[in-house]
Amino acid sequence: MPNTEVAAPRVYVVTGAGSGIGQATAAQLIEEGHRVIGVDLKNTEVVADLSTEEGIAGMVEEITQLTSVVDGVIANAGTSLQAPMDVAINFFGAVGTVEGLLPLLNQSDAPRVCITTSAASLHPAHDDLLEAMLNGDRATAAAIGEQLVAAGGMAGYLNYSSSKQAVARWIRRNATTERFAGAGISLNAVAPGVVITPMTEQLFATEEGRQQMEQGMPSPLNGPARAEDIAAAICFLTSTAAGKVTGQVLFVDSGYDALTRGDSSW
Ligand SMILES: NC(=O)c1ccc[n+]([C@@H]2O[C@H](COP(=O)([O-])OP(=O)(O)OC[C@H]3O[C@@H](n4cnc5c(N)ncnc54)[C@H](O)[C@@H]3O)[C@@H](O)[C@H]2O)c1
Repeated sequence: MPNTEVAAPRVYVVTGAGSGIGQATAAQLIEEGHRVIGVDLKNTEVVADLSTEEGIAGMVEEITQLTSVVDGVIANAGTSLQAPMDVAINFFGAVGTVEGLLPLLNQSDAPRVCITTSAASLHPAHDDLLEAMLNGDRATAAAIGEQLVAAGGMAGYLNYSSSKQAVARWIRRNATTERFAGAGISLNAVAPGVVITPMTEQLFATEEGRQQMEQGMPSPLNGPARAEDIAAAICFLTSTAAGKVTGQVLFVDSGYDALTRGDSSW
């Protein structure tokens, strides 16, 4: 007998829905029959710049007018510019989106949050920058980020790797608190390895770029991912089926985490 069971429609907010992983996630959720409110800089139902506090506040206000309940928040918008913008959107944008939408999540019977971090969270990070982010100190984080760019070479990349590690740490610190577990809200992340999306397409365009990616982040299981591979994991973590999973960073990285940390993460 075919499985004819259809999940009850839920309301999802997907940031970065205009491209890549966010677009693929929104498409899968719509395919499953859910209502998706897409947020991005352009071409989405809600248009907002989530790198600023004003942009986040405007997004929350607009979504509150569209719906009285949000079942899933997928904070996925991000950049990889190796600059302070990475910290502003990847960390502050994601955390601000989740916190701003908590009142609407609190109206759901099965509220879920998934943030898109990265396997780059395993790359070296900058301790003071991490601390500034986790203290919620935007100004200090931006100042450190600028200094890293000014230092030249690969230092600017620490903006990206640190932003992604800060997300993972923020999730571990917050998942079991009253605001999240106490309110029945699961809080998880996906950590993609190399994914072929507009963010990486320039690198994939040349042999040199492909080799650089393979050296920086090898993908032993079946090579780089498609946006749909990451979307599938996000959809699971934000589904009603994942009610006992929280505080987790699910690596969807073709084996990079296992290759890098081996069995020493226990
Ligand atoms: N592509 C990869 O290899 C890879 C690997 C690991 C993690 N990630 C992460 O996955 C997420 C999605 O990336 P992608 O590969 O789909 O990239 P993408 O560039 O295709 O999509 C990112 C989307 O975020 C939006 N965005 C950027 N800044 C924004 C802002 N200030 N306000 C609102 N929206 C903004 C962009 O407009 C874009 O539509 C990012 O957080 C990225 O860091 C990507």
